[in-house]
Amino acid sequence: MKIFNSIDEIKKVVKQLKQAGKTIGLVPTMGYLHEGHLSLMKKAKSENDVVIASVYVNPTQFGENEDLDIYPRDFESDSAKMSAIGVDMVFFPSDAMMYPPSYMTYVEPVGKMVDKLCAKSRPIHFRGVDTIVLKLFNITKADRAYFGMKDAQQVAVVKAMVRDLNLDVEIVPCPIVREPDGVAMSSRNKNLSEKERKDAVVLNRSLSGALEMIRSGETSVQAIIDYINSEISAVDSAKVDYIEAVDFDSFEKIATVKNNMLIALAVQFENARLIDNLLYLER
Ligand code: PAJ
Repeated sequence: MKIFNSIDEIKKVVKQLKQAGKTIGLVPTMGYLHEGHLSLMKKAKSENDVVIASVYVNPTQFGENEDLDIYPRDFESDSAKMSAIGVDMVFFPSDAMMYPPSYMTYVEPVGKMVDKLCAKSRPIHFRGVDTIVLKLFNITKADRAYFGMKDAQQVAVVKAMVRDLNLDVEIVPCPIVREPDGVAMSSRNKNLSEKERKDAVVLNRSLSGALEMIRSGETSVQAIIDYINSEISAVDSAKVDYIEAVDFDSFEKIATVKNNMLIALAVQFENARLIDNLLYLER
């Protein structure tokens, strides 16, 4: 496994790989890797000749009062994990490399996909995500890029960018990987206290309860949101940021349960804001 800090150097190797006709799978991450990230890398490995993973805590997707400074980092442990599963190349750039002082260009998504869910409390977040992801696509010339459904809105926004800007990369959405108690794996789980970590089961538990309600015939989205809200509000360490249901393609808000409905939520704990979601697909 080769680690690259320089854009020029990785581009040189990418050019050779492309000339040799190799396919490239990219897995963008912010590091502090867990099984969720590794599941993306394993899938990329099975579908491409070469896997490039990036490890970069992208400052432009964090708002001023967010957790950029306490975002967990451990590149040594990340490297060992990536090497063990056969990642071929790791891109691990510095801020100065990605955003030199002369930097001035951003990709700004607009419209109904970015006026709700996470975008409401993180207004500049998806501009930062699209910008860094496009830079990574251009640097790695990936044929396929792997994204987790844990960040369902991110999947939708990145897919829309690929469509709108006519990019030649296939976005591959991958299922959410959970801890044995159902909590979605997240680098941010590290910033929960022991009690909060136990309390965090309420996110997935309430979503599973919502799915049961739907399967028992509930059709009112409001009733489902009220139920999830009451479950989470009963946990003193957890503060609801949002609970919303949208059509996963159009991102229109919906009132009546339907196929392809995304129920997404964010919950603020003292030092970590956690997200989770359920994509409802009729059986
Ligand atoms: P990060 O939070 O490190 O996540 C990197 C990728 O891993 C994302 O596609 C995310 O959806 C996926 N992932 C995280 N937890 C997961 C889980 N429990 N199950 C499945 N997949 C999971 O998302 C980002 O970084 C950044 O926004 C990034 C795309 C790298 C741009 O900076």
